[in-house]
Amino acid sequence: MKRVAIAVAAVLLLGAGVAAAATVAPPKGPVSISLPGDAGMAFKPGPGVGAAQASCLTCHSSAYVSTQPVLSRAQWTAEVVKMRTAYGAPITDAQVPPIVDYLTAQYGKP
Ligand code: HEC
Repeated sequence: MKRVAIAVAAVLLLGAGVAAAATVAPPKGPVSISLPGDAGMAFKPGPGVGAAQASCLTCHSSAYVSTQPVLSRAQWTAEVVKMRTAYGAPITDAQVPPIVDYLTAQYGKP
């Protein structure tokens, strides 16, 4: 009977030790993470960058733009139109020209 009590006590102590080791202290202060793939791929600065950020980053990262080949104005226009018609991007007619200007200047050829 004494042996059983010692064995039970040993199991309980072991369990308490494992539980204590598994407890992770909460972080002190702000924590940040960086996701793979987007490093160094923020939209390039330039006129219209704000419009592009507001309209293009709601669904995907700027990497979708920065990893494209150098596109012409017509091709960037087609991309923006595709984002509206195929994927439902909420971009008004008035917002298209400044975004296309920006994309052509920073990621395209005139
Ligand atoms: C409503 C969501 C949405 C918005 C807003 C949006 N996109 Fe996209 N975009 C998508 C989806 C979905 C894909 C396709 C993803 C895939 O195939 O993996 C895509 C893909 C792309 C691609 C890759 C080439 C292609 O045609 O598939 C480019 C370039 C691109 N988007 C540019 C833009 C630009 C520029 C804007 C802002 C004017 C924008 N997107 C805004 C949803 C969006």
